[in-house]
Amino acid sequence: AAGSATAVAHPNIALIKYWGKRDEGLVLPWTSSLSMTLDVFPTTTRVRLESGSGHDTVALNGVPATGETLRRVTAFLQLVRERAGSGRRAVVETHNTVPTGAGLASSASGFAALAVAAAAVYGLGLDAGGLSRLARRGSGSASRSVFGGFAVWHAGADTGTAAEADLGSYAEPVPAADLDPALVVAVVDAGPKTVSSREAMRRTVDTSPLFGPWAVSGKDDLAEMRAALRRGDIDAVGEIAERNALGMHATMLAARPAVRYLSPATVTVLDSVLRLRRDGIAAYATMDAGPNVKVLCRRADAERVAGAVRDAVPGGTVLVAGPGPGARLLGE
Ligand code: DP6
Repeated sequence: AAGSATAVAHPNIALIKYWGKRDEGLVLPWTSSLSMTLDVFPTTTRVRLESGSGHDTVALNGVPATGETLRRVTAFLQLVRERAGSGRRAVVETHNTVPTGAGLASSASGFAALAVAAAAVYGLGLDAGGLSRLARRGSGSASRSVFGGFAVWHAGADTGTAAEADLGSYAEPVPAADLDPALVVAVVDAGPKTVSSREAMRRTVDTSPLFGPWAVSGKDDLAEMRAALRRGDIDAVGEIAERNALGMHATMLAARPAVRYLSPATVTVLDSVLRLRRDGIAAYATMDAGPNVKVLCRRADAERVAGAVRDAVPGGTVLVAGPGPGARLLGE
């Protein structure tokens, strides 16, 4: 039916991190970032238009959304309505398989799926770049989940009008040789985070003396990462990703007051990754706004890496993910 659209999107894990906005309203980042979209934890979102104006309703896994989640989704739909010249309210039903708030980027798959479904049902007629820009407005990392495999999100130029800045900041696929990568995801704590990434980013940008240097070195990290992907050098990809992630956490640790997402279990997993490397296995860690660790390795080594991580954190959940597809509409 023309009155509804359903889309599915997957989370992505940044190998070069996005941390900090230069414009909060437009969700423009200070730095460009690069990620791999995963083949696990899809989010499926259906948007149905109701005749007449009034409040949007949003259900997350069957439970009505309230508070900050409802506010963010409604603000996003309002943006879509303004572009479409529509006043029709929406009923949104989202099925999310990511543990919300665990630093596994449920907002990335969530807003990518919402952008694709809402753009279709309100008839925005956007191409992939346009969908990525739109998803960005919901959550920065969602701009990358529009694409499968590896994607780079361009920070865009800092000159010109707001409209020009908006146009310059979108994600696109990154050319990569056949790496056959896997990401071993170690969920050491699935509880909600203590500080939201929005607030933590703001505090880091405003108060951390390490933020500027990290952002500068991130430019080199991104250039080297692109070259490493092009030649299919998984050791270089992993090394660059690990140092970029540790640098991001260093900027947060130096914020005032400090933001610390890493827990003792995180460090235990990091030690097991070091031991794997000492044994000659290409395994490299990255962490986001939470204590969980994602270990990049060759697909052929994934079970061995997963076993080592499981032994390191017996209470945790460990699963193996591969590169996943971009966001897409489902046939009704
Ligand atoms: C640490 O995209 O969730 O995962 O734009 O405020 O919604 P908002 O932030 P979000 O931040 C993700 C931060 C990160 C790194 C990354 O994914 O690049």
